[in-house]
Amino acid sequence: MHTKSLNLLNKAVADELSAIHQYMYFHFHCDDQGLDLLAALFKKTAIEEMRHIEVLSERILFLKGDVQMKAAHEVQSLKDVKAMLKLARQMEEESAGEYNLWANECAANADAISKQLFEHLVADEEHHYDQYDTELENIDKFGESYLALQSIERSKSVSGGQAP
Ligand SMILES: [Fe+2]
Ligand SMILES: [Fe+2]
Repeated sequence: MHTKSLNLLNKAVADELSAIHQYMYFHFHCDDQGLDLLAALFKKTAIEEMRHIEVLSERILFLKGDVQMKAAHEVQSLKDVKAMLKLARQMEEESAGEYNLWANECAANADAISKQLFEHLVADEEHHYDQYDTELENIDKFGESYLALQSIERSKSVSGGQAP
């Protein structure tokens, strides 16, 4: 009955899967570069995107559809931290924009619950956008020393805070 909603909900699942893959890829590389704060931010956001898939899937099954677990995009192999944050911020902006439109489409098709679900996701994606934007601002404001500081903190904690 809600064919249109099912299509939109599955498109959202595909976007969320792409975000999880991309953010975990960034998490691995930030961790490898000793950037604990950014590594943790990407992992935390990926977990939140996983929860988005969970609520989307519950709705899809309630509407008697099936969940198509296919990512919308391939992972981009970016290693530069600024490039990572710019892509992540852009992905959040696009998701928020799409979910806003899809909320309206669901409302137009008399599916108030899917509309609410998309509205809830918009709020989360705007929050994610804001977090990535803040990190980019910090890098711009404090330069490379902002990233260097994170690496130094890692080295300190590895050596137990003692000077070698
Ligand atoms: Fe999401
Ligand atoms: Fe997000």
